[in-house]
Amino acid sequence: MTLLGRRAECEELDGVLADALAGRTRVVVLRGEAGAGKSALLHYVSERSDGWQRARAVGVESELELAYSGLHQFCAPLMDHVDHLPGPQRAALTTVFGLSTGPAPDRFLVGISARTSFRWRSRSRRHARSIRRLQR
Ligand SMILES: Nc1ncnc2c1ncn2[C@@H]1O[C@H](COP(=O)(O)OP(=O)(O)OP(=O)(O)O)[C@@H](O)[C@H]1O
Ligand SMILES: [Mg+2]
Repeated sequence: MTLLGRRAECEELDGVLADALAGRTRVVVLRGEAGAGKSALLHYVSERSDGWQRARAVGVESELELAYSGLHQFCAPLMDHVDHLPGPQRAALTTVFGLSTGPAPDRFLVGISARTSFRWRSRSRRHARSIRRLQR
């Protein structure tokens, strides 16, 4: 789909993707009225980041009271690899996602654990790519 009148926004998003490729962290907040074209811009990013590791979470009003529901959406695809986390981090994530029982973990530890999961996943994907390249 061709986006009309969004050249500046698209250039900004291209810059964000280029920075991500260079290992620089960027955060972008897309704000606008209903129908302003936020999803269209996300689609633009998604088309250009095909094959990348992407995580998606959607805020739902009915889940407002559910602690960690957004984090759960982000981390659910990573839970297969939870065994690779250090014990306390594994316990923190499995407890907040209801996979094990225990006292409510420290929020800071939950955040760190999620971060470790993402880093572990992106490292293992990089290794898999390198191995595929070596096998060719
Ligand atoms: N720059 C654009 N050029 C052409 N069509 C566009 C553009 N931006 C959005 N549209 C079209 O306008 C409609 C609304 O856009 P979109 O769904 O992206 O809005 P939104 O901001 O995500 O809305 P909501 O807040 O309701 O989720 C869609 O049909 C989309 O394809
Ligand atoms: Mg939308």
